[in-house]
Amino acid sequence: MFLEIIIGVNIVSDVALDFTKNISIDEKLLEHHQLLLKLCSSLEKIADSLPNIPNVQECLVICRDIFPIVKNAHNFEEKILFPILHKAKEDKETLDKNLERLCYEHWEDESFAEEISDAFRAYINQPIKAEADKLAYMLRGFFEGIRRHIAFEVEYILPLLKKSNPS
Ligand SMILES: [Fe+2]
Repeated sequence: MFLEIIIGVNIVSDVALDFTKNISIDEKLLEHHQLLLKLCSSLEKIADSLPNIPNVQECLVICRDIFPIVKNAHNFEEKILFPILHKAKEDKETLDKNLERLCYEHWEDESFAEEISDAFRAYINQPIKAEADKLAYMLRGFFEGIRRHIAFEVEYILPLLKKSNPS
């Protein structure tokens, strides 16, 4: 169960994604994307506010949740979604190449998620102003990469899902 990070000033609520709902694969993908994009918005607000820390408690919650939110989305895509895409009438070589690229980006994002989580937690515990720019740079690199990844998935995967399940 993951916290939903709302982007307002610093509001965090414990509304979780309910994956037991009977919804379609594309809706599940959109739910994961929505949660990731909320995380990105929260991290952007934090990056904008550095060297100040908007709310220590809420930032610690975000630190804790970065990796699980990212990992959960990737598990869904790699274990459930990508196998379904192989049913699409798509050039196999292109499909394999694109899915391999997405998996590689997942691996990079997971590694980066752990890294920024550790760096952010260290900054919260000891906010050294000289470190703020570096942390903001890391946060921006992370959420900009996640947003680009999602944009590609929306553009490439959603049409493929329709091809693999045209009903
Ligand atoms: Fe992905």
